[in-house]
Amino acid sequence: MRTPICEELGIEFPIFAFTHCRDVVVAVTKAGGFGVLGAVGFSPEQLEIELNWIDEHIGDRPYGVDIVIPNKYEGMDANTSTEELTKMLQDMVPQGHLDFARKLLNDHGVPTPEGEDNSLQLLGWTEATATPQVEVALAHPKMTLIANALGTPPADMIDHIHAEGRKVAALCGSPYQARKHADAGVDIIIAQGGEGGGHCGEVGSIVLWPQVVKEVAPVPVLAAGGIGNGAQIAAALALGCQGAWSGSQWLMVEESENTPVQQDTYVKATSRDTVRSRSFTGKPCRMLRNDWTDAWAADGNPEPLGMPLQYMVSGMAVAATHRYPDQSVDVAFNPVGQVVGQFEKVEKTAAVIQRWVEEYLEAVEHLNSLNAAAGV
Ligand SMILES: Cc1cc2nc3c(=O)[nH]c(=O)nc-3n(C[C@H](O)[C@H](O)[C@H](O)COP(=O)(O)O)c2cc1C
Repeated sequence: MRTPICEELGIEFPIFAFTHCRDVVVAVTKAGGFGVLGAVGFSPEQLEIELNWIDEHIGDRPYGVDIVIPNKYEGMDANTSTEELTKMLQDMVPQGHLDFARKLLNDHGVPTPEGEDNSLQLLGWTEATATPQVEVALAHPKMTLIANALGTPPADMIDHIHAEGRKVAALCGSPYQARKHADAGVDIIIAQGGEGGGHCGEVGSIVLWPQVVKEVAPVPVLAAGGIGNGAQIAAALALGCQGAWSGSQWLMVEESENTPVQQDTYVKATSRDTVRSRSFTGKPCRMLRNDWTDAWAADGNPEPLGMPLQYMVSGMAVAATHRYPDQSVDVAFNPVGQVVGQFEKVEKTAAVIQRWVEEYLEAVEHLNSLNAAAGV
């Protein structure tokens, strides 16, 4: 399963795992893959704690950090401090949206104590909030890759990361976005099909991956969206990608922070139970469909706001999910891809990597045996 990107990054298998859990980052990297910590939910101070912990446990191996600077978001032209930007955005959130969200949660038996409910907080979905995260990440030498979701990172940030001797990756959902990344000097392009968990476009992986590979060659492309076994990695490599970037699978490992109740929800979900919804972040994001996503899509109810305003409303549901993970399933933010329909059980991270490698080899052998049977 080795591809040139393995040499470049010093890893055994081209398996990249996006996760919010430091334990999963360490377990993936130690099993021969490449763990990437999603930083969007962490303040710079919290991120520093997480990365120190990773450094202590990961040995000499590399890992990455994922930030989110969208191409477009509310307030992006405001040349102000984070505090001023936060204040400006807070004033743009209609009270009716906050009341609607609070009632929805309370009607589901989820408490939202005012002042402690996380509403009106600005998460790291802006350049102002992501820049300090990049500075924290670059202070950790084993952190060798910074990935950006939702847009091409600013040119000065790319230059800065390169000057520090690290690589830059960026997600995309179209050849057009991929071209912008490549022209800006992004080292690794992650092509995420519409079936993937989290923010995604509408085009499915099997169509998108080869289009992006063709568009940006020779820049390496990682395949994202719909990878939950080794045969799917074989398909990605057959379509010209150099590796697999996955997210949903890592919700279903023992090392993740997800509770057994949440993981049971994933086991029960079919591939038809996810929806692309703007109801949490303001941009289309694939997640488990539930009463929250339905309510924000219903006629007559408030329309989701743009990014990052909608999260200043939905943050109270996310806070409730953390505080009452097992009571809030019907209104929780559960980003996950259609691959959820494949999940049958919770596994150890190392067992997933081993399984994927074995399944990949089986898939390749299967192709060879078809050729042999046809006398090729
Ligand atoms: C719970 C969850 C949260 C995610 N959050 C982010 C994020 O903050 N930044 C990002 O670049 N991608 C995020 N993603 C997308 C993943 O990086 C990855 O591209 C995607 O999960 C791949 O598709 P898959 O879910 O089919 O594996 C998230 C995915 C999931 C499942």
